[in-house]
Amino acid sequence: RTPAPFKTPLPVPSVLKPSRTQGGVDYYDIVQKPAQVEILPGIKTEIWGYNGQFPGPTLTTRSGRPIVVRHTNELEVPVAVHLHGGKTPPEHDGFPTDLILPGSGWDGHDAHGGDISRGSREYHYPLEQPAATLWYHDHRMDFTGPQVYHGLAGFHLVHDEAEDNLPLPKGERDIPLLICDRSFTADGAFDYPAVDPSPKGEHGVTEDFMEGVLGDVILVNGAPWPVLEVDAARYRFRLLNASNARRYRLALDPGPQSGNAFVQVGSDVGLLGRPIGHDEIQMAPAERFDVVVDFSKFPVGTRIAMVNKLDDGDTGKVMQFHVVRKASDNSRVPTKLVDFEPLSRSSATVTRKFDFNQRSDDGWDINGKTYDPERDDAAPELGATEIWRFDGDAHHPVHLHLAHFQVLSRNQNDPGPYDSGWKDTIDLESGKEMEIIARFTGYRGRYVFHCHNLEHEDMGMMANFRVM
Ligand code: C2O
Ligand code: CU
Repeated sequence: RTPAPFKTPLPVPSVLKPSRTQGGVDYYDIVQKPAQVEILPGIKTEIWGYNGQFPGPTLTTRSGRPIVVRHTNELEVPVAVHLHGGKTPPEHDGFPTDLILPGSGWDGHDAHGGDISRGSREYHYPLEQPAATLWYHDHRMDFTGPQVYHGLAGFHLVHDEAEDNLPLPKGERDIPLLICDRSFTADGAFDYPAVDPSPKGEHGVTEDFMEGVLGDVILVNGAPWPVLEVDAARYRFRLLNASNARRYRLALDPGPQSGNAFVQVGSDVGLLGRPIGHDEIQMAPAERFDVVVDFSKFPVGTRIAMVNKLDDGDTGKVMQFHVVRKASDNSRVPTKLVDFEPLSRSSATVTRKFDFNQRSDDGWDINGKTYDPERDDAAPELGATEIWRFDGDAHHPVHLHLAHFQVLSRNQNDPGPYDSGWKDTIDLESGKEMEIIARFTGYRGRYVFHCHNLEHEDMGMMANFRVM
């Protein structure tokens, strides 16, 4: 039932409207529930979706304007919601044991002593942070892999004045692209190799799949290898690798006659100081690249595939752009984007070291320890700038909650081509030490950092830091 690539039109997730506004705060409501949707032609797939949608509805918010999101759990499993890239107080950060139990009741093992809500919970987001492409997704301890795989992920775009003032493509020409891989059973269900489809056991992933679950169908915004009709004009794409474990090296085929295929204007958690041209973009799970593609460099009628150069065959294709008409375009990419402050090595007061390695038996460790929600492995001071050194035995996309960071070095050299700007996730390569410099601003309290290969995370590759 593998669908023919480049036939399904690209869906764009709907933008969620606030249910009400009070005292300068926007209140949103999201119900997490199962839904039957057509992903493969002619067959239904059950998803677990925010408002029954996969991807979930997009939140578009303003920097510095607080919002509250009430999540109601109508699924049959506990959930926790994390705003990835958000600077969020710890009690609203979706800590992996701060669960919302199903409204219909729950008799499985839960909680490891977290802050438990029943049926629903309000998450408060101050959004004291610049314009960026954030995303929200499930974060239930030991089960993030299966729960995200079933559809619990969506975009959250923060806007601000500095971004408004830039002449970048806007409106219909500013499109978020959530890229992930999934497998399907013959009757159309998501084929996640979990112990139990509504797991109540120890981990949502079996040992056989602890390396990471890969799918054989590439979805963009929930559609298999879709096609987007575009004007011969500039478009801004917010690329998100929402896959559990798959990495991509995206390229255009054919590429443009002149210049670079992609002009990067933003990284995980903000706009860059200056744009960077790329012909390929390598993305580990959870990374975002905010890019502009200029389709006026292609003759009208051209069909351009976005391919994944890390794979051949079906997973080597991602989506297609079809240039269908000439159009006016007053957007451009200025040579200066926003004020960007590079963090200097000398501003750091503490250096810490974390090794990301496989355990001999059945899991993944940080500094030789599996995840324990009660243990703190670092205690940075509020406001501190610290250097963290990472080393690992495989590809590990390392993600810090709360703290935004910059890459200082990769394998004893300068940062790589995909390391620019403010980041919250980096692609750690096997045996190649990396250094990041992070600022622990915002809130005191306990936060996680972890590998964002979701099967590595569920199998223990997570730790806590406590901002003091
Ligand atoms: Cu995107 Cu701790 O997660
Ligand atoms: Cu990992």
